[in-house]
Amino acid sequence: MKVFVTRRIPEEGLKLLERECEEVEVFEHDRIPSKDEIKRGLKGKDGLLCLLTDRIDRDVISSNPKLRAISNYAAGYDNIDVDFATERGIVVTNTPDVLTEATAELAWALLLAVSRRIVEGDRFTREGRFRGWSPTLLLGKELSGKTLGVIGAGRIGTAFALKARCFGMKVLYYNRSRNEVLESKVGARKVDLESLLRESDFVSIHLPLTKETHHLIDYRKLCMMKRDAVIINTARGAIIKERDLIRALKEKRIFGAGLDVYENEPEVAEELKEMENVVLLPHIGSATLETRTKMSLLAAENLVKALRGEVPKYCVNPQVLKG
Ligand code: DGY
Repeated sequence: MKVFVTRRIPEEGLKLLERECEEVEVFEHDRIPSKDEIKRGLKGKDGLLCLLTDRIDRDVISSNPKLRAISNYAAGYDNIDVDFATERGIVVTNTPDVLTEATAELAWALLLAVSRRIVEGDRFTREGRFRGWSPTLLLGKELSGKTLGVIGAGRIGTAFALKARCFGMKVLYYNRSRNEVLESKVGARKVDLESLLRESDFVSIHLPLTKETHHLIDYRKLCMMKRDAVIINTARGAIIKERDLIRALKEKRIFGAGLDVYENEPEVAEELKEMENVVLLPHIGSATLETRTKMSLLAAENLVKALRGEVPKYCVNPQVLKG
């Protein structure tokens, strides 16, 4: 088994690959490899371990007729042309579950940061502008008794919504199927997207990026939200139409936004950087030592299993395994 890894991942996974594979080539620069660099590394390999920043399209996949497995070091896999990989009988795997809590926690961190103006307050203090307690300084939004709207109640959406109990919030969720765990544990109510947007004080997105969810939240939808609502996105940037979000924020149609993801990553719109009511993070939802180590092991295990013809723990195109 010969494999190419597009970036140095935590060593636990690399060690596993080195133990199990005849050859492990790692892209050694600390930057996103170009398409040509990926194709070059992939030459003669049976397996690929890639990141969400690598676009694994038809061109890359068909550059190597030997390729049998692609292991994504992420839960989301919108960076891979899974349909084309499936056509060619290539197994595609991902790393859900292990990053659920880390990502849910980060969504709460953003929600609190925007609502209580934490980053603004930190800047204010560091700049020496704190001249003593004031009755009107940096007034934010309280969580207790408010309504939380969760868009997408899969693993991360569920973990996120369950924590609403600690803040005494009501929970609404928008999801294809009913989520009985949320309904029984936090009394959550399943609603349509419009009702969720109209009734929630805080909205958090936990959907995968697909053709259906691309630009799901546009200007019209943002205008349905309460004027003092907060929107959080730790899923994928393109689920929100970024231009429209900027417009809605400028027009004060909502209170603020907390973003960990962007439509054209790593590009972040200048207008967003200038706004005080927006907290911006560099896609660090899963960035804890514990989680990244688990992701590394899981991505390596998935790749080795797929190449051995065994069933990997998380396969996104299981029809290939059956064939
Ligand atoms: C994922 O795994 O899809 C996350 O975005 C990584 O942080």
